[in-house]
Amino acid sequence: MPDVLDRAASLTGQWGEGRHEPRMPNMRKILVTSALPYANGHIHIGHLVEYIQTDIWVRFQKLRGNRCVYMCADDTHGTAIMLRAKQEGISEEELIAKMQRAHVADFAAFHVEFDNYGSTHSPENRALCEEIWAAIRKAGMVHEQEVEQLYDTVHGMFLADRQVRGTCPRCRAADQPGDNCSACGAHYSPSELLDPVSVASGTRPEVRTHPHLFIDVDKQHAFLDEWTQTGGHLQPEIANYLKAYFLNEPLKDWDVSRPAPYFGFEIPDSPGNYWYVWFDAPIGYIASTWEWCKRTGEDFDGWWDERKGGETEIHHFIGKDITYFHTLFWPAMLKVSRFSLPRKIRIHGFLTVDGAKMSKSKGTFVLASTYLKHLDPSYLRYYYAAKLSDRVDDIDLNLDEFAARVNSDMVGNIVNLASRTARFAGKTGLAAEYPEDGGLFEQAARDGAAIAEAYEACDYAQAVRLILAAGDRANKYIEDRAPWNLKKEGRIEELREVCTVGLNLFRQLAVYLAPVLPELARRAGELLGEPIEHWRQSEEPLLGAAIGKFAHMMKRVERSKVERMIADSAEPVEEAPAAPGPPPPADSDEPLRREPLAEECAFDDFQKVDLRVARVLTAEPVVGADKLLKLTLGLGGEVTRTVFAGIKQAYEPEQLVGQLVVCAANLKARKMKFGLSEGMVVASGPGGKDVFLLRPDPGARPGQRVH
Ligand code: 2FM
Ligand code: ZN
Repeated sequence: MPDVLDRAASLTGQWGEGRHEPRMPNMRKILVTSALPYANGHIHIGHLVEYIQTDIWVRFQKLRGNRCVYMCADDTHGTAIMLRAKQEGISEEELIAKMQRAHVADFAAFHVEFDNYGSTHSPENRALCEEIWAAIRKAGMVHEQEVEQLYDTVHGMFLADRQVRGTCPRCRAADQPGDNCSACGAHYSPSELLDPVSVASGTRPEVRTHPHLFIDVDKQHAFLDEWTQTGGHLQPEIANYLKAYFLNEPLKDWDVSRPAPYFGFEIPDSPGNYWYVWFDAPIGYIASTWEWCKRTGEDFDGWWDERKGGETEIHHFIGKDITYFHTLFWPAMLKVSRFSLPRKIRIHGFLTVDGAKMSKSKGTFVLASTYLKHLDPSYLRYYYAAKLSDRVDDIDLNLDEFAARVNSDMVGNIVNLASRTARFAGKTGLAAEYPEDGGLFEQAARDGAAIAEAYEACDYAQAVRLILAAGDRANKYIEDRAPWNLKKEGRIEELREVCTVGLNLFRQLAVYLAPVLPELARRAGELLGEPIEHWRQSEEPLLGAAIGKFAHMMKRVERSKVERMIADSAEPVEEAPAAPGPPPPADSDEPLRREPLAEECAFDDFQKVDLRVARVLTAEPVVGADKLLKLTLGLGGEVTRTVFAGIKQAYEPEQLVGQLVVCAANLKARKMKFGLSEGMVVASGPGGKDVFLLRPDPGARPGQRVH
């Protein structure tokens, strides 16, 4: 355990009276969060809408001179993490550490810059959960109630709603998740599903009963009614939605405990029960701040204590799917435990790609890391900014529009201003006095107020529109004054003046765009010999300066690279299950009668074989072996096995890549003439061309156990 985990003690302890930054009179003190991403999956372009949206807002606040910090963490608890760790054959702690490294790298590559990136599986979070829980208990808001839950007897655990699938009890649609039906929209509990199947083991779960702890959220009804409906904490459409659907009747009690085994924090006054992941996840916002305070000597209570943090603004950015948790449960928890309430909860919609839900088979479910192999992160930052408003609407990434807008707006408009003037200015330098420009600089400086207002309101689309309009005016000026002709004609004084205007207009726009495109702003600062660090730099022209060597600031998007990214993201559509082999001869059990049976194998020995769904990642012939193919099999996450399989005469290697097979995953590795074989694929048949691979259901997930 780290040093101080008792908050009360720490008030007079080592960081309670921490360092205070001197603050300017109008400087706001702002704490910003994005939803904590689950540690059971990688970051994709859908997630990035939120992190880019938040990062832009934070960078904007910092550029305006406000004290603004951005806190985030991985959301690490729950059954999904347990199952994934099990599938990958590693501990939960190893899994979450590995995922955190991957998340942090993805965010950094997209220039998303946190002041602290923590984990909900931290001692700080545990201590805060205990403190908040004690306050909720003290307020008399906890009661116990028996709950029926589905139990997977293979994995020996209760299943979360989404880990059960079955037939909808209302419309009878097959293969529906355990909480609501995608066909008819019905809400139900998993135990109501007809023919329930555990997605973890593929077996039928049992209904079991266990006492759970519930928070009586309705005890805060009056407070929540007021908080959600007044004070501008929520977008109007969200406030109306909450009023219409939840606040006009008693709020339901919230089930916040889960029985062991559960990866999370055990509830101190309820041994054998753990806080449900959604209880400790938002507390992770506070815990991440605490980690940061310890690291930097900041005063923690000045940020989160209701009594001391009064002037701190807390802004949560979240997606619309988690509205309920953040607008009802979370304020209730904070209120009861006397932590500061958020000033605003800023809710965005989902991402669609080319008008449809992101899809693995279409290749539009693009991981951050895949995007980065093909395209510049600044493109996506710009495109999202151009699309994001202060509304909860979904945003669409239209791939044609994506390429066209980046090319015309950024490369053709903004960067063009620099590329048409910087080379000449490299020779002439900037004029000592700002030349007559027909009021362009002043107009763009005045626009700064409306642009700032749009950023503040999260209406980035409006900010971008204003910036592009200024860019159009500036480009027209360059067009009219044609510096290339001035150069040809040797009119150097005029050339210097035109370049001074052109580059100063460019610099203004680089300042305005710095929250969206920090890399462009950095390069602009380098070119102009003065880093872009404050919004005020858009108000005063830069004069008399030497201009650096012009280097490309942003390349055009190549459509072929977008296509390659999509192809790279596409998971092969499963082919129909392999055609059955020839019908067995009437005497198909003949060989059994003729061949003596092998030595008896105990049932328990047979049970030891761990069969897993695996995807064929690579398949290649083995030089010098007539019957063997060398396969690399993916078993979910980064777990792979190399297997030499005697199926060469039955399958073409190309035909196998991307297909699902069944792998005996726990066989002891065997050294063969051609290399180490780390498992077996399950196939049967007489041999030669007649060997048939066992094919899992096309919807199965690599790593899933097969029984
Ligand atoms: O929906 C999600 O992805 C959750 N991991 C978000 C948690 S946000 C906060 F409450 F921690
Ligand atoms: Zn239904």
